[in-house]
Amino acid sequence: MTLAAEIAAADAPEPSGPRPWDLDAIRRDFPILNQQVNGAPLAYLDNAATAQKPTAVIESIADFYRHDNANVHRAVHALAERATLAYEGARERVRGWINARSVSEVVFLRGTTEAINLIAHGLGQGWSAGDRVVLTQMEHHANIVPWQLLRERAGIDIAVLPINDAGELDLAGLPRLLAPPTRLLALTHVSNVLGTVNPIADIVHIAHEHGVPVLVDGAQAMAHQRVDVQALDCDFYCFSGHKMFGPTGIGVLYGRQAHLAALPPWQGGGEMIRRVTFERVRFADPPQRFEAGTQDFAGAVGLAAAIDYLDNLDQGALARHEQSLLRYAVERLDAVPGLRLIGRAAHRAPVLSFLVDGVHAHDMGTLLDRKGVAVRTGHHCAMPLMDFYGVPATTRASLAFYNTRDEIDRLADAIDYARGVLA
Ligand SMILES: Cc1ncc(COP(=O)(O)O)c(C=O)c1O
Repeated sequence: MTLAAEIAAADAPEPSGPRPWDLDAIRRDFPILNQQVNGAPLAYLDNAATAQKPTAVIESIADFYRHDNANVHRAVHALAERATLAYEGARERVRGWINARSVSEVVFLRGTTEAINLIAHGLGQGWSAGDRVVLTQMEHHANIVPWQLLRERAGIDIAVLPINDAGELDLAGLPRLLAPPTRLLALTHVSNVLGTVNPIADIVHIAHEHGVPVLVDGAQAMAHQRVDVQALDCDFYCFSGHKMFGPTGIGVLYGRQAHLAALPPWQGGGEMIRRVTFERVRFADPPQRFEAGTQDFAGAVGLAAAIDYLDNLDQGALARHEQSLLRYAVERLDAVPGLRLIGRAAHRAPVLSFLVDGVHAHDMGTLLDRKGVAVRTGHHCAMPLMDFYGVPATTRASLAFYNTRDEIDRLADAIDYARGVLA
């Protein structure tokens, strides 16, 4: 090799591709994980509630505020241009990550809850009494209550697709529920209580055969798998930044261009209009039509950094690690006397909800916390699902790719400790 070729080779960009899977290195990216809680190392197993943030995300937001902060889409000065570029760059980053056809299909909102409310509000304008939305037994309240509000306003009906004991949807009953006057099927991709991963592409196919559009609540999916909205062929898909290692206060509604174009605005205010006089208003096209007022543009920058971070991980290794953690956790928890695990779907994300004989879930949560193990207890904003299983509350350990087998062992040991104290 000539000297010139050697220099050129040395200067060539690093070959792109995921970094090698190194759990210790990954954990070092999340500074919050490295701390003691109640005298024990923190085992953070409450990722379904909110996921922790890597330094890259924290720094991206701090850097934005340090160097580029200005309101977006409003002024022509340099900071405003940089901020606008960063905000719209984040939209493009999201578009690419979920494989939307166009940035105009990507609306920035506060999160999943706001996205579903927007859809219920907008679609509901064109619905009449008796029109039906189909939900499932495993929905989060975020995908139940907005439809109940619409039922109160417009007299629509809500039908519910049942599940079996393992926590899987009963798809045999779906075609009957999709018959007219069903206007929409709205369901979760991944259950926040059971971990069940629903076969969304198949479900969308069935729904579309019946002419029914599908809204997917992706709040729990984005942290565990790459989502391709075109492959799923869904009509709407929504998710929250904070559950996928990004900041709070920012989330995304994906909607097919034609659907969004047909939706009326959600809130009125600055930046969602073309022209305003006192007599009339002409609205902007999507996505701006749904982004009234000052948006969380710093949050969007943080969300793009979270996507960059995820993109740099080996997705295959991530999935293998999570599934191996799940299998190990099931094995350990099944060995605990008196422990009942809720949800045994064949295809599921690493979420484990359980009850232990003689121990109330809230007491379990408190005692686990004494050992530094952070879990969620309660109804998990899924009361109809709790009713299905006939329980008021469960303890839920929800895992992320940065969790370890050692943390699962600590969970199992802490459950033994709680049983010793209370059972
Ligand atoms: C399945 C599911 N849907 C919707 C939500 C609501 O998400 P957010 O509170 O970020 O709007 C959650 C939150 O836990 C969830 O788990």
